[in-house]
Amino acid sequence: MPSTALPSVQADNEWSQLRAVIVGRAANSCFPSEPPHMIKATMPEQYHEKFQPKSRFPQDVLHKADAELDQLVNVLAQEGIKVYRPNNVDWYEVGGYTGSMPRDGLVAVGNTIIEAPFSWRSRRCEVDLAYGNILAELAKEGPLTIVRAPKILDADTIYNGIENHEKEKEPVWAINNSRPAFDAADFMRFGKVLIGQYSNVTNHKGVEYLRACVPDGYTVEMLEVDDPHAMHIDATILPLKRGLLVYNPLRTSETALRRHSVLQDWDLRAYPFVPKMRDDPPLFMTSEWLCMNVLSISESKVIVEEKDVEFAEWVKQFGIQPIPLPLQHVNSIGGSFHCATVDLVRHDVSV
Ligand code: ARG
Repeated sequence: MPSTALPSVQADNEWSQLRAVIVGRAANSCFPSEPPHMIKATMPEQYHEKFQPKSRFPQDVLHKADAELDQLVNVLAQEGIKVYRPNNVDWYEVGGYTGSMPRDGLVAVGNTIIEAPFSWRSRRCEVDLAYGNILAELAKEGPLTIVRAPKILDADTIYNGIENHEKEKEPVWAINNSRPAFDAADFMRFGKVLIGQYSNVTNHKGVEYLRACVPDGYTVEMLEVDDPHAMHIDATILPLKRGLLVYNPLRTSETALRRHSVLQDWDLRAYPFVPKMRDDPPLFMTSEWLCMNVLSISESKVIVEEKDVEFAEWVKQFGIQPIPLPLQHVNSIGGSFHCATVDLVRHDVSV
């Protein structure tokens, strides 16, 4: 390992100047096939019947989604940001979901990159197949700790006893706590503190496991969120720059956020508009709150979906320049700019 090499991964917040990033790929993505109770818990009702084994997303949506991702890559490259792309994977063949949502499977914390121990069976090979080569390349480029997810050797127990469980007063998630499970997109980084949510894909053992994986000095705190459909925190809270966070007031509150001392003196803004649902192309897997799912490329520039004009106008008052780009077809298959990327190097990591 050359001693002069800069770390190939060095990021612990969502806003400092971006230097290196993974941008996903949409080709061959399929509706993830998971037990009906999981689909019911997390996916929009009108599309439930699409979540079957071997069910492809419409070809034209995938085609346009890849064109959108390629355009994003060009814009990032023009900004001087190094971009890594996943392998092409035939998700239909392997019974998987997608390579377009890298945020769900990987998180950089300082000089460590951590793989999510997915609860979804359909996603367990995702990091290996789509991002394995990127991890190998990053390891060659500079000093780096890679924490791969534990392998499940026998039958997975994560759904045992849950599938037929009728929801009662207590929030009952679609998974149990029999093994660690989390999706990386259930966490946001605020320097030495990560703030996350329990969800239909993130359990208590998963959070304990993440606490054991983060480098020394980093801690993981859990936000109080009121969302029985919770899956991925990046349409619920999103820091736009140091000291400024936007949140979904239907899912969390200023009181809940202020409990986290790292946010004590932050400007916490409830998103003031009611986002509009899109049906062309359909939002097969998310709510309309995806409009918050932007990518900050520095403290003064965020990439926003070009149709989310309200959001773009709204950020200007904070001295932030919105960069509108199309991503509607990627939105259709599961997420927006935050979901479709993993920041690997950001300038100015807390020490
Ligand atoms: N579950 C969120 C919502 O429907 C969408 C989160 C998408 N995020 C992601 N990283 N794939 O509002």
